[in-house]
Amino acid sequence: MFLTGASASHRQRDRVTGGGTAGDYMTGEFAMGGSRGQDWGDILTRKIKDRSVRIGVIGLGYVGLSLAVEFAKTGIQVTGIEIDTEKLARLRAGESYVQDVKPYEVKGLIADGKLVVVDDYRALSELDAVSICVPTPLSKTKDPDISYIAAATREIVPHLHPGQLIVLESTTYPGTTDEVILPELQQTGLQVGEEFFLAFSPERIDPGNAQYRTQNTPKIIGGMTRRCTLVAKALYELAIACVVPVSSARTAEMVKLLENTFRAVNIGLVNEVALMCDRLKIDVWEVIEAAATKPFGFMPFYPGPGLGGHCIPVDPYYLAWKLKMLDYKARFIELAAEINTSMPWHVVSKVVDALNDQRKSVKGSNILVLGVAYKRNTNDLRESPALDIIKILQGKGATVTFHDAFVAELTSLDGATHVPLKPEIIRAADCVIIATDHSNVDYEWMTSQAQLILDTRNVTKHLAVGNGKIIRL
Ligand SMILES: NC(=O)c1ccc[n+]([C@@H]2O[C@H](COP(=O)([O-])OP(=O)(O)OC[C@H]3O[C@@H](n4cnc5c(N)ncnc54)[C@H](O)[C@@H]3O)[C@@H](O)[C@H]2O)c1
Repeated sequence: MFLTGASASHRQRDRVTGGGTAGDYMTGEFAMGGSRGQDWGDILTRKIKDRSVRIGVIGLGYVGLSLAVEFAKTGIQVTGIEIDTEKLARLRAGESYVQDVKPYEVKGLIADGKLVVVDDYRALSELDAVSICVPTPLSKTKDPDISYIAAATREIVPHLHPGQLIVLESTTYPGTTDEVILPELQQTGLQVGEEFFLAFSPERIDPGNAQYRTQNTPKIIGGMTRRCTLVAKALYELAIACVVPVSSARTAEMVKLLENTFRAVNIGLVNEVALMCDRLKIDVWEVIEAAATKPFGFMPFYPGPGLGGHCIPVDPYYLAWKLKMLDYKARFIELAAEINTSMPWHVVSKVVDALNDQRKSVKGSNILVLGVAYKRNTNDLRESPALDIIKILQGKGATVTFHDAFVAELTSLDGATHVPLKPEIIRAADCVIIATDHSNVDYEWMTSQAQLILDTRNVTKHLAVGNGKIIRL
């Protein structure tokens, strides 16, 4: 339950924390209902500069664990708060469940006490800055589900204290920080921009990207006030090479949605071009490769079996939903989503046609799906189009197996069995669908064994073998 302004202020005055600023805000001035005379922004900035700032991260998933480790690597004390006890146990054992976070880093930071992980929100009382990195999924009706953000905010309220910075990192619709989080935090009676600080800073993590990691990817920051932006900027500059301030939290929220909508719409466009080229009997890959020789005004995007991951298929719906509240239809977003979600069906229809050419029916056929993660060289299955392809094929009566060395611990997936990539298994498949182009597969060898291949990623383009039995999107 949220605190009322009166009771929250009372609790603020009465609380004694172990933090260095406890004495500061327990003064008579603060007890009078404010923290007059104290420059809390200055106090927090000094702690950031002398690196005594204590940072907290709520939600230790792909985003939160990467951020917590990045801050802790600079020598700052970091506390991670996570509700999944299995994740906590793995971290305490020095393991990492996030591919881009190295186990030896977690192990070292936990052993040195630089990274402490807990499931108890009372730790928030001791922290100067807290980043919220909880999930923002869609409901069944594809509306934003911000219940995780609301729950984390409710947990922060009883522990919010003067000189504390709260930063939301979860991707969400413009207005979440000031319409959802701010009113809750203000129930404490504390003043934003004066006593506590609130900002939005979108995460731009790109799983599997060896060149751009958390540390060297520029980070956008937009605060509720200019002071909030400056304090948050100072904090993130401890660990991130380039921090880019913008004028407001809403702007920062919109920046993230522009970035991901840009990708969703461009992928939707190129997927539609693939559908057109299919009708025109033109190789879409050749068209894109040739167009990409233009040194200006063109940026190549590539077709595929559909969108996957936690971001691109989800985030544009957050924007479309918000605009619907304002009687505006986000047409590009809806159209791109329609085309992108139709791609698994297109893949299956190509398989059906190719089998038909061989006088085979899909019903009773044996289909091997190669690569089920949504992205090359990752183990992330979230929203993966390979899962849709498996379900559609099963619905048509095919027996589906899959192989993916990145998710090898999975023995089955939606009724499909994981199989090793052995010659007899490849040969037994009526069709192999390359759904994900992992780099650890010998495609030339695999092609030499297969009867028929549907390549959705153009990974077989340079192969000398396979003439006549490879079909591309
Ligand atoms: N994964 C990406 O590549 C990526 C990239 C950019 C932005 N984002 C955004 O970042 C946010 C987080 O994404 P993620 O991929 O890290 O999600 P995730 O599911 O991997 O991690 C979220 C973590 O938060 C924990 N959690 C949920 N509620 C909690 C609570 N009340 N208190 C403490 N812990 C709680 C969950 O147990 C989970 O471990 C989302 O909004 C997402 O859209 C993700």
